[in-house]
This record gives sequence, C-alpha cells and structure tokens, in this order.
Amino acid sequence: MNTYYCLLGNTPLFSIAELKAVLPLVRIEMLNDAVAQIDLASDTEATDLLDTLGGTIKIIRHIEHFETKPDDEDILLSSSKILTREKTKNKISFGFSEMGRDHLPVFNARSLKKHLQSLGYSAQFKDGPRTGLPAALLLHKPHIQEIVLIGSNKGTILGKTIAVQNIDAWTNVDRNKPYADRKKGMLPPKVARMMVNLALAHTDEPQPAIYDPFCGSGTILLEAIALGKNNLIGSDLDLEAVRGTKENVAWYAEQFETTLTPEIKGGDVTKVNPSQKIDLLITEPFLGKPKPNPAKVPFILKGLEKLYRGAFRHWSKILKDGATVVIVIPSIVVQDKKGKTRIYTLEKLIDSLASLGYTTSSEPIEYFREQAIVRRNIYTFTYNTENKA
Ligand SMILES: C[S@@+](CC[C@H](N)C(=O)[O-])C[C@H]1O[C@@H](n2cnc3c(N)ncnc32)[C@H](O)[C@@H]1O
Repeated sequence: MNTYYCLLGNTPLFSIAELKAVLPLVRIEMLNDAVAQIDLASDTEATDLLDTLGGTIKIIRHIEHFETKPDDEDILLSSSKILTREKTKNKISFGFSEMGRDHLPVFNARSLKKHLQSLGYSAQFKDGPRTGLPAALLLHKPHIQEIVLIGSNKGTILGKTIAVQNIDAWTNVDRNKPYADRKKGMLPPKVARMMVNLALAHTDEPQPAIYDPFCGSGTILLEAIALGKNNLIGSDLDLEAVRGTKENVAWYAEQFETTLTPEIKGGDVTKVNPSQKIDLLITEPFLGKPKPNPAKVPFILKGLEKLYRGAFRHWSKILKDGATVVIVIPSIVVQDKKGKTRIYTLEKLIDSLASLGYTTSSEPIEYFREQAIVRRNIYTFTYNTENKA
C-alpha cells in the first residue's frame, strides 16, 4: 500500500462524501481544508480512481514526511532526488506546488533548478500559481513533474502529483454535447458525477435502474454512462428536453463504444410511470429562476414545495423498497430592505417526507458559487415502505 493525497475540488465536503462513497473500505483522513489522505495499492489504482471521481482535482503520491518544519535545503535535496529518479526525458521539467503553507514564505524553486544544473542535468522550472500547475498543462505534458509540499497539523509532507483530472473529457461533455439549454440551468457535469457516485454507494446491483425525472439535457444520465451504467430512465415535462436527452445519450454512448436503449419520455413528474421499479432516483428538479425577485421568494418556495411533495408522493409508487433518492433541493438567499441576509429553505418539506417513507441517510451538502442566490443542497434519502406513516 502507498499513501496518496487527494486535492479536493471547490466544495471539499462534497468531494469527501464522494470519496467515502466510492471507497467505502478505505480510511480517509483530512490533512487540511483541501487535502485528504488515503492508502491505495498503486499509482494505476490512483489514476483509475481519479477518472471515476468528479470532486477530486489531483492525486499526489507520498514521498517524505517531515515531522518538524523542513528547511529549504531539506526540501531541495528530497525534491531533486525524486525529479532525477523519475524523469522521462533528458531535460527535467518541473513545477512546484504548496498547500496549507500560506503562513510560510514561498519555497524558491529556482534554487532547485540551479541545484539540478549543478548536478549536470538540463532543467526547466515551470512557474505557476503557488497552489500548483494547471491540470490541463500536466495532462498534456506528462513529462512535467510536479513536486508538492503540503502543510498539515501532522507536519509537512513532500509528494509528487501522479494523476490529474481529465479536463478535456469534462470540457467535452460540458460543451460539445449536441443538445443544451443553458437558459434552464444545467447541472455542472462534475456535480452530476458526484451525485451519481453518492447514489451508487447505496446499491449492490451491477446495473441498477437509474431514473432522472427532471432530466433536462440528461447531464445525470450522461455521467451514469461514463461510469458504465446502462439501465437508464429519464423524463421531463418539456418535450424538447426529452428529444435533446435522447440525442445526448446516443452521442455519449457512441464515445464509450456502447449502444444503449434508455427509456426517455415526456411527462409531468407526478405522472410518469417507468416500465420497471427504480433503484436509484438521481435528479435536479426545477429550482425556479436563478435570480428571483426577493419579495416573491416565499411564494416561489411554496410552489416548489408543492411540486416536490407531489413528486415524492408519486415516487413512492415507482421506487423499489430500500431505493435511494439523491436530489438537489434549493435554498434561496436574499437581502431584506435593511440589507440583512435571509436564507429561505424547504426544511419543513424535508421533515415531512419521513411520513412518506423517506429518511435522510446523511447530512445535506451545500454546493453553490459565492454570489449564487439559489443554492443547491444535495440530499440523500432512503425510501422504505415500512417507514410510511
Ligand atoms: C433545472 S432543470 C434540470 C437540468 C438538468 N439537470 C440538466 O443538467 O440538464 C429542471 C427540468 O425540470 C423540468 N420540469 C419542470 N417542471 C416539471 C414537472 N412538473 N415535471 C417534470 N419536469 C419538469 C424542466 O423542463 C427542466 O428541464
């Protein structure tokens, strides 16, 4: 076993929940706000893991642990040992990244370049942000090695980046799919992937029936395809979205060299009856306008509450006993006339779902951009008929 460090995405709690879902038997320890430690068998396993995740940006292999603060000479010697041992081209090209060390002066990586040159190597230092080189650069130029220094309450760790998120694949699914309706708001593919991973942790079925009843452009179904799932069902009130989802699914399946026969149809969420019972319902419902009029927020939430309650009631007829629902539920942040911030939530609805048989199996995860008025909260429910009131 080797120790690795996962550099988490912009919502670390969400990334950690995903890691736990994908690696239920692996101990996961937070090193600092942005980095989690795990043990894996090999670099190949780490690379495969990164291709499965939506919420981890880089994976770093452990090289050395300094219990007390290392001086620049220690860092320089350990880094140069790695760079010379693992070079794949005559010229050593490297970047240097630091995390959890904001209170310390920046390590002078140019001194490392000089040191390598004094040893007779041709060396090139790729300057970049302190947090590290962009994933795209490391992906396209795999000969560039990135040394990483991580500060934590356990001391300082020196590591090397061995896997980066495949930014090309993410851009492809985000930008190149044939159908998109950006006005309606599409789920970022990485968030959809994380939701699918959270749901998959709740089933042993190799091909669970996965249903998105507000499928929009099919983002969630596409991420299920990327994870090798083929028993897919989608529906939407908007027939153009239904047509578009069919087109997107066919386009994406082709890229994975598979043909799929998903069940995708039109209809109101409270009326659609899929041809089989559902194991995993994963969805981002209609969330209302992204910038609602503050005065209207209580009415908007009342409307959403009615829509969602009807949906959950109907789903109890189409879900298998023990099924899982991973769903985005909005909260809305508004400033009142005095400039005070107020957060409106649908907590009353969530509490009332217990009587319909739905229990939350973990704390909700908040996922939002800083200025967002409508925030996404990701809830995971388990549906059990015996819990029904
Ligand atoms: C936020 S979008 C979902 C976007 C989707 N996750 C994606 O990434 O493309 C919500 C979708 O719900 C659909 N919708 C709204 N009201 C509905 C209803 N009562 N029943 C079914 N679908 C509905 C809309 O047409 C829209 O496509």
